[in-house]
Amino acid sequence: MARRKLGVVKAIGAAHIMADKAKIAVLISGRGSNMAALLYASKLPDCPYEITLVASNNPHAKGLELAKAEGVETFAHDHKGMNREEHDMIMHDAVIKSGADYIILAGYMRILSDAFVQKWVDKMLNIHPSLLPKYKGLHTHKRAIEAGDDYAGCSVHLVTTELDDGEVLGQTKVKILPDDDADSLAERIIYAEHQLYPATIAAYVTRHQNPDWILDQVRKRALALEETLERPSFGTPAWRVGNEKSGKYFAYFSHRHFGENGISVFVKTSGSDEQEALLDADPELYFLPKFYGKSGWIAVRLDHDSTDWDHIEAMLAKSWRIVAPKRLTKLIDIANEF
Ligand code: GAR
Repeated sequence: MARRKLGVVKAIGAAHIMADKAKIAVLISGRGSNMAALLYASKLPDCPYEITLVASNNPHAKGLELAKAEGVETFAHDHKGMNREEHDMIMHDAVIKSGADYIILAGYMRILSDAFVQKWVDKMLNIHPSLLPKYKGLHTHKRAIEAGDDYAGCSVHLVTTELDDGEVLGQTKVKILPDDDADSLAERIIYAEHQLYPATIAAYVTRHQNPDWILDQVRKRALALEETLERPSFGTPAWRVGNEKSGKYFAYFSHRHFGENGISVFVKTSGSDEQEALLDADPELYFLPKFYGKSGWIAVRLDHDSTDWDHIEAMLAKSWRIVAPKRLTKLIDIANEF
């Protein structure tokens, strides 16, 4: 399992681990003021991302000059006369070459081919000048004013194959003033964009270290298993299988709980042989929980930036299976035969 190297950056009572900075490529078509906001935010101490490339479909995009002057690598390839997928592939190759993990669309006024979008699922973000799901597409400011809305605003969202339709990660409302026209409103919304985009990207690229996000990932997988419920144990979220009375725990979430550092989930193994095999296989990923190790539990670390969630899901399912009542596992065995 390939994981990015962990760097210990500080220890305040407990070990904190932080990954290298996320690498982002910013795609623009014109002025590039959002790109500039991202660039200057990236110069602040503790910014968790760095820009590896500013690329454009328009060789004359103003933003390219600024990026170049600031010492950021740039790339431009005109889309004119090219088929969409071909052009997208050229941009994709440039982004990959720069070493970026994320694509950040910042006024990149091109509809993207499905093939390109599919290469960057959950890794491509866009900023749009409306309060999505309202006013997808163009002329957003004018449409908000004409509709008589009190507020317009901007949204940062994940990019999917549907236009301006992916999960919204952050939004800022901007009041529409009585004498606003599309230009005056756009001028104010851009201030909001410049604040929203760097902050949302920072939160998104560090979500793997956010205890609430990690807990949500464990929770949704644990509760997807049959007949499970969440019941806190010693003040931390934990999940049981079986009925209210005789149910048994199959997972405990530990955020510096049970005398442990860091964030992990405890799951049941088949016994000491399996525990040892896991510890041998990946001592960075697994450890024996102090209070639970002897009874067959293993802790799986969740606070690095490339947790393999399919693997965690499989470990939860296995743990569930070990403690679930026979009447439940029997049904699954029968289903598996078909
Ligand atoms: C921004 O307002 C951005 O939200 C919008 O283009 C402008 C680019 O300005 N994007 C879209 O409309 C995408 N659907 P900038 O080049 O100064 O960042």
